[in-house]
Amino acid sequence: SLVLPNITFIDYVDDIVRVVEKETAQALEDMFRAAEQDGIILYGMSGYRSYNIQSALYSKNVKSKGKAHAARYSAEAGASEHQTGLAMDVVSSDYKTLRTGFENTEAFKWLQDNCYKYGFILRYPNGKEEITGYAYEPWHYRYVGLPHSETITKNNLTLEEYLKSY
Ligand code: DAL
Ligand code: ZN
Repeated sequence: SLVLPNITFIDYVDDIVRVVEKETAQALEDMFRAAEQDGIILYGMSGYRSYNIQSALYSKNVKSKGKAHAARYSAEAGASEHQTGLAMDVVSSDYKTLRTGFENTEAFKWLQDNCYKYGFILRYPNGKEEITGYAYEPWHYRYVGLPHSETITKNNLTLEEYLKSY
């Protein structure tokens, strides 16, 4: 079931995209709290998205950036991982937009070192676009649970590669 995680969101984010699956919510709360203890302030940006929300978002992206760009950064309705309630776009107090520059933040470094401990993986890593089908998104985290998150992260795998090996 979808629940509202007790984490801080970027303030303009609509309530309806703040929810995630229950286990993912717990993991997010644990991860955000641990980050804070290390002096890193994370913010949620976008969690669960319904078919209609994703459809509107995709259309908006196509209109503003063109179809080629939209296809690399945005899934079509029905094809987004956000629709599973297992993904969250995460930014930080010093970088509040979904841009590749997020990778230069302390927050991103922290996430790289620690997200697997909470069951998350960086879902669309740099240089793996051919495999994942999407451009590098340093902000997009997907809950897969331990031990999967640890195996995937420590072996520099994508979810696609990991699933194929089973
Ligand atoms: N940005 C990711 C690929 C999505 O729209 O699901
Ligand atoms: Zn995302």
